[in-house]
Amino acid sequence: MSTTFIHGGTVVSSTGAQDLDVLVDGEAIVALLAPGSTALGADLAATADTAIDATGRYVIPGGVDAHTHMEMPFGGTQASDTFETGTRAAAWGGTTTVIDFAIQNPGMRLQDTLATWHEKAAGNCAIDYGFHQIMGGVDAESLRAMGELVSEGVTSFKLFMAYPGVFYSTDGQILRAMQSAAELGAVMMMHAENGIAIDVLVEQALARGDTSPYFHGTSRAWQMEEEATHRAIMLAHLTGAPLYVVHVSAKQALEQIATARGNGQNVFAETCPQYLYLSLEEQLGAPGFDGAKWVCSTPLRPRAEGHQDELWRYIRTGDVTAVATDHCPFCMKDQKDMGVGDFSKIPNGIGSVEHRIDLMFQGVQDGRISLERWVDICSTTPARMFGMYPRKGIISPGADADIVIYDPNGHTSIGVQKTHHMNMDYSAYEGFEIDGHVDTVISRGRIVIDDGAYRGTAGHGAFVRRGLSQNLM
Ligand code: URP
Ligand code: ZN
Ligand code: ZN
Ligand code: ZN
Repeated sequence: MSTTFIHGGTVVSSTGAQDLDVLVDGEAIVALLAPGSTALGADLAATADTAIDATGRYVIPGGVDAHTHMEMPFGGTQASDTFETGTRAAAWGGTTTVIDFAIQNPGMRLQDTLATWHEKAAGNCAIDYGFHQIMGGVDAESLRAMGELVSEGVTSFKLFMAYPGVFYSTDGQILRAMQSAAELGAVMMMHAENGIAIDVLVEQALARGDTSPYFHGTSRAWQMEEEATHRAIMLAHLTGAPLYVVHVSAKQALEQIATARGNGQNVFAETCPQYLYLSLEEQLGAPGFDGAKWVCSTPLRPRAEGHQDELWRYIRTGDVTAVATDHCPFCMKDQKDMGVGDFSKIPNGIGSVEHRIDLMFQGVQDGRISLERWVDICSTTPARMFGMYPRKGIISPGADADIVIYDPNGHTSIGVQKTHHMNMDYSAYEGFEIDGHVDTVISRGRIVIDDGAYRGTAGHGAFVRRGLSQNLM
């Protein structure tokens, strides 16, 4: 077992920041020491196998990205990052745990699909990973299987109110799955958009000749997100299931969630950096076919309607529980370009697993959120939400040594030729400049990013068997 001693830095948690030295032994954090107060500290700086001087920098728990889709089969193609390339890119960006989605299509056994995803990930990941289970076919057998998955550490299930004919669940199926989730104490995750009505709007847009990527956004109107979010909240209320609404982009949907939370319901919102920084007008409305780069669902919203500012506000109020990426990358060439002349054929998804910690730190620098809230929404609360705390999400004795040394005076230029390690032929954030820098990333005691050098290996990352949510009211 080797020891690492990180000294001189400021340890940031969701509740405060303190100058502390951190001692790692093997895969775990074993001690936090007041700097300079003991002879032990000086001794450790000299005797640890690795000593890192973190003076002037933040020492934070590794990022937990609770929503990724590595090599996801979707839209007639497959997400372009494998577990190997995607988790390596995540590590570059300071994320040390991802929760990806195993996918069940109708007629498949839930356990078999989970086994398939275990095979895809095992031996390939640079950082730790867990799974949520997508239920594409809610029936008596899959409902029974939910309990088995919970006992295997897959304690959250995603349903879709969108994508009829693909992953779509009827209200009756949602009700039944929520009843099972409530009984098990599992979290129900929801893609909340009224897919039946959206498909009509899509058909009408295409018939009018509105075929460019911009109309992907207008046909997935905010009313469709608000309505579905409200319906999901009511079904969850009736059944008692904890509800986590993924990738919320409409301020009206968030208002529904905030109201339910105010009423004491276990409802949680996730948003993503794309909904905080990007917009319908600027990105989806880019000239020609360029907007395809930002086709994802829920869609980017109009800046003129103020969604982005409201989402930041709801992060401050605490009604947004987690910021995840919904990392689902597709290249422009041979993937996104399948939708030239028909936006409905553009594979849905944006890749940004590498940039979440930086993009959210820019929110600190811009005065939108506190340092503590940054750590909270990027690491601590996602870990608690999905049953991994205090192994993940905190710098504390006994926790896994998943640690990021972050330089608030550093600089990161995002772009394909610059900081990009994802397997995508473009960057959704090309030209973004971040006032901060991920310097060192440690995953279970092992340095994987070392001041601009990758020192990780595929296969170091291990499956995290999750418990039940620790974030329920
Ligand atoms: O556009 C998106 N969000 N693609 C990934 C699949 C999903 O719905 O999360
Ligand atoms: Zn979704
Ligand atoms: Zn997703
Ligand atoms: Zn630096």
